[in-house]
Order: sequence, then structure tokens, then C-alpha cells
Amino acid sequence: MTSAASVSASAKVPRTLSWQGDTSGHLRMIDQTLLPTEFREIDCKTVEDVWEAIRMLRVRGAPAIGVAAAYGLVLGLQSAVERSRGEFDAALEQTVEYLSSSRPTAVNLFWALDRMRSAAKRAAEADSAQVLQLLLDEARQIEEEDREMCAAIGRVGAELLRDGDSVLTHCNAGGLATAGDGTALSVFFAAAAQGKQIHVFVDETRPLLQGARLTEWELMQRSIPATLICDSMAGWVMKQGGVRAVVTGADRIAANGDAANKIGTYSVATLAKAHGIPFYVAAPSSTFDLSLSSGAEIPIEERAANEITHGFGRQTAPDNAQVFNPAFDVTDAELIAAIITERGLITPVTEENVRRTVQRIAES
Ligand code: MRU
Repeated sequence: MTSAASVSASAKVPRTLSWQGDTSGHLRMIDQTLLPTEFREIDCKTVEDVWEAIRMLRVRGAPAIGVAAAYGLVLGLQSAVERSRGEFDAALEQTVEYLSSSRPTAVNLFWALDRMRSAAKRAAEADSAQVLQLLLDEARQIEEEDREMCAAIGRVGAELLRDGDSVLTHCNAGGLATAGDGTALSVFFAAAAQGKQIHVFVDETRPLLQGARLTEWELMQRSIPATLICDSMAGWVMKQGGVRAVVTGADRIAANGDAANKIGTYSVATLAKAHGIPFYVAAPSSTFDLSLSSGAEIPIEERAANEITHGFGRQTAPDNAQVFNPAFDVTDAELIAAIITERGLITPVTEENVRRTVQRIAES
């Protein structure tokens, strides 16, 4: 992996991910672990680079992970291009399996890899070089569709917000988490573009601070008024009447509408319910997993203890402290007022409505 560029954070923000060149090219991405104090793009030239970037959260957020994995597959197959089609297909299966092991919760990763595999299967008669080209085209298509889905989610969700609203979000579901403008943040950007004054409370999002480091940074880049709070302050801010709606993203939504998102989201949804505040989830169709009947079946990633005991390099807990570090939690469908998709709202959030909407999007 090489460092491609280092620019001031106030400069125009390049795309979260972009493919450079043709089938022998590479994937460029913003290294999100360095934000907000350093803006640097890195070049992933091997599939191992992409796996590491996903695992270490250099690229993170469900849709962005899917796009990265799709390009990662192209990188993993570059060296198989001279081999027979049978050998190429075997390498494809191995590379899909390898990339699938990078992170378990965001279904977009598996969705994107499945889609890439299907594209290769459809081209049964093509030779290895032609399939590699098809796979690059498919990855580009996934990226482009994600950009369009973000814009559509913004348009749909902005209708829920009124001029002067103060909203709250958790983690980062912005441009950094997608190929476009984000999911939850796209709603705020679209509302602002309609001329509505929107103010956002940003949960800092322990332990890796995606809210403080990334969401606050993105909102400031786009001149959206934002106030950073510790996660533990959300209930108090709500009690004081400071929040009109909560909007978050999701990493995987089960058939009954239960939604996995960054750890702490379930607490925020419960607090919103207690204060009579609507809790919205903004997510593209690629985030739904209808093979799971409820959120209880969603695999929840557990991450290293040192993210809690030694956050950002400083020890903040006694040596050998026992730690539990789930990276995600599941918000029950009944706590969600609506799911904002690229093709409209799912409300009330019932299995029937989820299946009907996702089916309709798949058929269109
Ligand atoms: O661990 P992360 O930073 O990948 O977690 C990201 C989130 O939980 C986001 O809220 C989610 O992926 C939605 S992104 C549009």
C-alpha cells in the first residue's frame, strides 16, 4: 500500500474511493483512520491491501465497504488474467472467500461480492481477460449505483425534515461511508439544499469516534451547523427538547426490519422512543438481508480490547482489564419510525412492508 496524496482538510474533498486506470490499475481511497487531523489518500495495489484497509477501518461504512470489496476482487484477479478460465474462476472463489473474512456485519460486503460473482458466471463463454474487464465494469457500476442511491435517499428523507429542525445522528453515515453523499447525512445535505436550516447533534461514537472524527468533519466541510456531544449526553439533550428527529445509517437490516448499526445506536433509539422522538434509519436496498428473519441472526463483529483500553494510543483502563467490544448492535423494528430507502419510506416497519419494498426495488 502506498500513500498517494496528502492535502489540507479544508481543500475540496476527493471521492472516498476511486479506481485508477484500467484492469491493471489500483484502488485509491481516503485513509479514514487519520481524519480529521490528517487528510491522506492511499493506493491499494493488492487484494491484501484492500482486506487490511477494510479490517483496519481505513475504509468503513457499509456501502463503502461493498464498493471497496468489489474493486478488491479485481485486484485479486489481476495475476490470474493469463490463466485458463477454469483457473480464473477458482481464483475468483478463493478471493471472494478471502475478502468475505475482512468484516462480518455489513451485508453490503457480501452483497457486492455476490453481484461480482454473478457477473462472472453470466459470461460463461468469455476468456479470463474479458471477465476481468467485466468485473471492473461491474465494480464501477456498483460504485455509480451507490452514488445514485445516496442521492435518492437524500431526496426521500429530506421530506421528513422541516426548516429549523435539530436532529441527532450516531456514527458516520456520510460521504465517507459510501461512494456518494452518504445515507443519513445525505438526508441532511438534501434538506439544506432545499433551503431548510438544519442543525445536527453528532454523537462522538465511542470507542472509535466515527462521529467526532468523521461526521463532525464532513458536516463542517459542507457548512451544516453541528454540535458534537459525548454519546452519554444524547438523552439529556433530548430531554431538553433539543432533538426533533434521529437519523442513522445501518449495516444490515433483517426481513422484519431489525437494523444493525454502530454500537450505541440501540441506546439512542431507545432514548428517542422514551422522549417521543421519531427514529429513522436511512439505508439503500443493498443493506437489506432478507435471508435473515430477525436481527437476532445478524453476526455482530467483536473488535480488539485495546480499542477500549488504549483508544488512540493512550491507556485509559488498568492492565488486563476484561473487555467486551461489540462493534454493532441491533435496533428492534418497533423502535424505528421509518426506514428511508432510495425508493421511498418503509413505514410502519413490518416484515410485509420490508419485503414488498425490497422486492419492488429488485424488480425495477
Ligand atoms: O465500524 P464502521 O465505522 O464501519 O461502522 C459504520 C456504521 O455503523 C454506519 O453507521 C453504517 O455503516 C451506515 S453507513 C452509510
